[in-house]
Amino acid sequence: MNQDAVKGARQSLHGQWSSRLAFILAATGSAVGLGNIWRFPYVAGESGGGAFVIIYLGCILLIGLPVMMSEVLIGRRGRRNPVRTMAVLGEEEGSTRFWGLVGGMGVVAGFLILSFYSVIAGWSLAYVVESASGAFTGADSAAVQAVFGGLTDSVSRLGIWHTLFMVLTVVVVARGVQKGLERAVRVLVPALLVLLFVLLGYAITSGGFAEGAAYLFRPDFSEVTGGVVLMALGQAFFTLSLGMAAIMAYGAYLPEDTSIGSTSITVVVADTSIALLAGLVIFPIVFANGLAPDQGPGLIFLTLPLAFGDMAGGQFFATLFFVLLSFAAWTSAISMIEPAVAWMVERFDVTRAAAASVVGVIIWLLGFLTVMSFNVLSGATFGAGTIFDNIDHLTSNIMLPLGGLLIVVFAGWVMSENSTANELDLATPARYRLWRFLARYVAPVALVAVFLNAIGLF
Ligand code: PFF
Repeated sequence: MNQDAVKGARQSLHGQWSSRLAFILAATGSAVGLGNIWRFPYVAGESGGGAFVIIYLGCILLIGLPVMMSEVLIGRRGRRNPVRTMAVLGEEEGSTRFWGLVGGMGVVAGFLILSFYSVIAGWSLAYVVESASGAFTGADSAAVQAVFGGLTDSVSRLGIWHTLFMVLTVVVVARGVQKGLERAVRVLVPALLVLLFVLLGYAITSGGFAEGAAYLFRPDFSEVTGGVVLMALGQAFFTLSLGMAAIMAYGAYLPEDTSIGSTSITVVVADTSIALLAGLVIFPIVFANGLAPDQGPGLIFLTLPLAFGDMAGGQFFATLFFVLLSFAAWTSAISMIEPAVAWMVERFDVTRAAAASVVGVIIWLLGFLTVMSFNVLSGATFGAGTIFDNIDHLTSNIMLPLGGLLIVVFAGWVMSENSTANELDLATPARYRLWRFLARYVAPVALVAVFLNAIGLF
């Protein structure tokens, strides 16, 4: 008989991960994606490097880790879609059903994030074809710029790749959490790691390594503004898939006897290592080629091809790299719509396939706002920049940290000590006290302080 039934715990309607490793792989698959390899280097480059990186690491440890543990524990305790889970637990813990709105905000954030994420993943798919056809072999900076410009200037080319990526995502989500996903991640994450090490080898010999590493790790705190701190916080949430209940949705499928503490730490360490590795690859190439670190979202697409174009076997490695990057984006995208799909299946009693299709079409349409931000609407700037920049800023820097704040307050203040201690089941009481201290005080205070600081009140 199933362990959960023995324990009398709730069961998720959507199935369960086959093992602890399966959950780690799925959560790592969600965390590791464009956020590590595309977003981290370009945001770090726009924010001045070293000091940003240190603040980002601080956010990961003091806020990201306790929030991740909170999401998993809430998800596993509720065993339903995030909206229902938060509503039910809110009531159960003597507060209100309105906590369900936090899950609802997560669903909305997932729609918005995937709308641009899919477009960027489309760049990666397009680069598979470019690499395979030898477009980067021996290419100089101008040639790489021409390839990138040719892609991003074209609504139809961007649109086609975005469409393909959305179809791939919907197909996997429609088939359920275990089939495909578990198997894909098992091969993908290690393969991506190996390839990053190959690139690291190139970066070390590129002539720009000392400068690149110094840029990444030597902090200049005089450059730090409220905006930089907010960016670092937003990046921490984005890269760990936190604040929008994606990890909560995955937590609902976690077997009862799995340790939430050690699985969360594993995911955080894997994700952070991959981001730092990506930074260590990109910046040396940037400096060795006399490029600017702050050139924005195109950064890796304008720098990595130079490295591939210059190395032996570069055509093969480039193709493989963009295939793996596309896979990494795919396993992240799947987790972004899981909250919405699980919610629709439970709420309207529709099939996963139907729910995934409806969600997919809405996000696909929204994605054209990002597609056009790089060409016909590139002049339409306000607030944080283009429409794409604004969707990114609103979700990463505002909705995710706000969602994270509410989630950690829920776990630390609304849920009883009994419930959380029980669910976390950490090895020693000291560890539980540490988590609770982070969840009740450190994370909420830090989150509020960063918000106030960013709007100039603190
Ligand atoms: N963590 C993913 C990445 O770094 O690419 C992006 C992401 C996935 C954000 C899932 C949010 C989310 F819910």
